[in-house]
Amino acid sequence: MEFSILTLCYLIGSVTFIVGLKMLSNPASARKGNLVAAVGMTIAILGTIFLYKDSETGHPLGNYPWIFGGLIIGAIVGTLAAKRVKMTAMPEMVSLFNGMGGACAALISLIEFNHLSHELEINMDGWPSGKLLIILLGLIIGSVSFAGSIIAWGKLNGSIKDFSFKGQHIFNIVLLLVILGLAAYLIVVPTTSALLVFYIIFALSLLYGVFFVFPIGGADMPVVISLLNSFTGVAAACGGFLYDNKVMLTGGILVGAAGTLLTILMCKAMNRSLKNVLIGSFGATASGGGQSSASGGTYKEISLSDTAVVMSYASRVMIVPGYGLAVAQAQHACHELEKLLTEKGVEVSYAIHPVAGRMPGHMNVLLAEADVSYDKLMEMEQANDLFANTDVVLVLGANDVVNPAAKSDPASPIYGMPILDVEAAKHCIINKRSMKPGYAGIENELFFRPKSSMLFGDAKKVLQDLIAEIKSL
Ligand code: TAP
Repeated sequence: MEFSILTLCYLIGSVTFIVGLKMLSNPASARKGNLVAAVGMTIAILGTIFLYKDSETGHPLGNYPWIFGGLIIGAIVGTLAAKRVKMTAMPEMVSLFNGMGGACAALISLIEFNHLSHELEINMDGWPSGKLLIILLGLIIGSVSFAGSIIAWGKLNGSIKDFSFKGQHIFNIVLLLVILGLAAYLIVVPTTSALLVFYIIFALSLLYGVFFVFPIGGADMPVVISLLNSFTGVAAACGGFLYDNKVMLTGGILVGAAGTLLTILMCKAMNRSLKNVLIGSFGATASGGGQSSASGGTYKEISLSDTAVVMSYASRVMIVPGYGLAVAQAQHACHELEKLLTEKGVEVSYAIHPVAGRMPGHMNVLLAEADVSYDKLMEMEQANDLFANTDVVLVLGANDVVNPAAKSDPASPIYGMPILDVEAAKHCIINKRSMKPGYAGIENELFFRPKSSMLFGDAKKVLQDLIAEIKSL
């Protein structure tokens, strides 16, 4: 009876996880989706703690003080971290939490191998190759994910600098081959020194995780984190196999698949291959910014008062948020401007590029934080259809996602990346602090086009001053 209730708990956990994941794909339902999946997982965890019984001995799980001690500490740390984290530091936190998932998967493998090695000492004939394969997969993938995520976390918060040496990619490939070779040896050949080989594989996997992420450019970390996230999912699924735990298996596979899809989608939206992200050191060789364009063009500036007039008397305004808006934490000021213009009868919406900012959905989350209504957010295709009928585009801290070189310059590193076609509008006002390039490290011809005007300054300060100007009109 208890086992069937436990199965029901796992079923609820799995179904709510899938439903929650689906709901995450829409900003309007994402918050609820997170909650639905969390409730399902809580049911599955409590079911395991109270209803699980060992199939051979019939003993319950026990160890309650340890389990609840860990749960309480983890819940407090997780809640505080999530409440305190700044939006710009979100990729860092995701990376750290992902690393913890990888570490859990590796620890499961360590514990299960220790159990197994006692059996092996007694009986060398029945070498459990199948079980060893799963344990080793969990160990290798979990350790790589843990070590890689910690390096990614350090790179994102600036405590670890990019590091590479000549021939590092070859070194990495050799290291990986050694790990796989040792694992294959352990699975196929019964040996009394299995424990030693196992720990060597563990140490090399941690080392591989470090060297895998070290040379990748700091700004490419979101893609790497998503990839490592999929690794953690697969490692957790290995744990599900080991314990014959359906919900762990389902959760692990879904996280693995979602992470893989997200990695592919991010690469696609940037028009870069995964190989290019992993070994490309993107933007490093690009031309840097400056006052003069490659074509020797000049740019014109617009004053705050002129911007206030142009925007107040427009019929349709489109705001293009980018990474700079997140850096300036100007989302609330941006929403205030939108409300002010709307009160004046201007139709205002936001054009959201899929890789604007530094993480998937960055702009959606940022604007949601300021209570911007979801129906004001236009996806790229939708926005591109509207630009021709737009009077003013206000680009706030965005650069690469509006760079026309993506369409016109086959030599550009972003060539082929779909962009927001802001040039189609009647007037384009670009706010940033200088003429420096964005993430890709390349100059932006848009700034020098006849319909473009530069409005220099920190996005938050500029928006606050602009609001004051419009109010005083
Ligand atoms: P970027 O091209 O990085 O441009 C951001 C601009 O914001 C910079 O040119 C900077 O110019 C300006 N800025 C910085 N701080 C500012 C402030 N306080 N006030 C006003 N402006 C400020 O950003 P984007 O257009 O959003 O493009 C995102 C880039 O990141 C793309 O190349 C994309 O491929 C890449 N990327 C995205 C993701 C995801 S999933 N979103 C993942 C990895 C990589 P100044 O320094 O002159 O102010």
